Amino acid sequence: MSHWYPSPDPMAAAGQAREAFREAFGGEPDGVWAAPGRVNLIGEHVDYNGGLCLPIALPQSTVAAVRRRGDDVVHVTSTGKEPWRGTLGEIAPGQVKGWAGYAVGVPWALARGTAGPQGEPLGQNGFEAAIVSQVPIGAGLSSSAALECAIVLALDDLAAQRSGRAPLGHGDAGRARLARACVHAENEIAGAPTGGMDQAASLRARAGHALSLDCRDFSVRHVPFEAAGAGLAVLVMDTRVHHALVDGRYGSRREVCREAAATLGVASLREVAFETLDDALARLDHDEHRRRVRHVVSEIERVRRAVAVLRSGRLGGLGPLLDASHASLREDYQVSCAELDLACDAARDAGALGARMTGGGFGGAAIALVRAASAELVADRVANAFAATGFADPAFLLATPAGAARRLA
Ligand code: GLA
Repeated sequence: MSHWYPSPDPMAAAGQAREAFREAFGGEPDGVWAAPGRVNLIGEHVDYNGGLCLPIALPQSTVAAVRRRGDDVVHVTSTGKEPWRGTLGEIAPGQVKGWAGYAVGVPWALARGTAGPQGEPLGQNGFEAAIVSQVPIGAGLSSSAALECAIVLALDDLAAQRSGRAPLGHGDAGRARLARACVHAENEIAGAPTGGMDQAASLRARAGHALSLDCRDFSVRHVPFEAAGAGLAVLVMDTRVHHALVDGRYGSRREVCREAAATLGVASLREVAFETLDDALARLDHDEHRRRVRHVVSEIERVRRAVAVLRSGRLGGLGPLLDASHASLREDYQVSCAELDLACDAARDAGALGARMTGGGFGGAAIALVRAASAELVADRVANAFAATGFADPAFLLATPAGAARRLA
């Protein structure tokens, strides 16, 4: 028997967030905002190389009940977590530990580079927020980006309401700017040197579509992705191995890519054309550099092919691309782990068309493209394989492409 995450219910989460707000701060919030987690179909560890990714937003969201304050006090709470209370002036790199950095880093970043449409400053006011997350935490499904994005949308909306302007979040260009502020917050205040895919997915995805994201300029295209129409489903397999992007292994991959690009004389590895990959590899002296470059350049090519598959409507063609991506992440990028490998192998043995780890790796989740009718069977087989190996019980959900972050109430 496999363990499944409960179906997400945003309105129930909104009710819980309101309730938590009343308890923590008294009175009513000004509003409630929700931002989804994401699962990346393909294009892993390429965003910080200016590459291409193909995430979808999940139906699971992080929900924030927020009230603007007249002073500079920021107070955030989240179920089961240590609350954080301080002033805007106390938020600085290295000063906020743990989960709260993702939330309170947002006003810090807004104040340092994101102005409203008429140049009015953002991130100048204190606020209170009560947070409820339906996105599994530490599972590689971007619970942290969802938190940032719910907060950024709230702060933008409340500032807009006050000054009688349209929120930046009402248009895609404005959302791209808000996403940039969230990345800045995550990099500088939370200390996770991540690349921007997650925030783009959470703020800019479209229901029923995958987000074809070009990280050279963060331009997006929405590609229809209706797996159900083709009798297929994307099964997310959370290994329950907690993954964290602040422990140095993620950052060291990023650094090696930067070094390899410098050796090759290009601004980013995106500039290495797939057709010239062998030449590029021959110019690199270190085995580690060759492996990382081979992954990045081949993965970007797989994303191009995956987009073509989605456009053709013959979604089964994704399977071999997912398998090749996983092999590359395991062998060349070395960010997989025994649990992710087993989840993918067991899913394939149970009939999945393809499977790969998704997100940063070192734990977290994998995805499998399965026939919709056999999703439960595949999950059961994966759970059995985990039990037989003595691994912790994995947990499952089905990823249908949901819409981007929004105001709920
Ligand atoms: C994490 C990061 C993203 C991206 C992925 C790997 O999710 O937050 O920026 O680098 O890992 O593709």
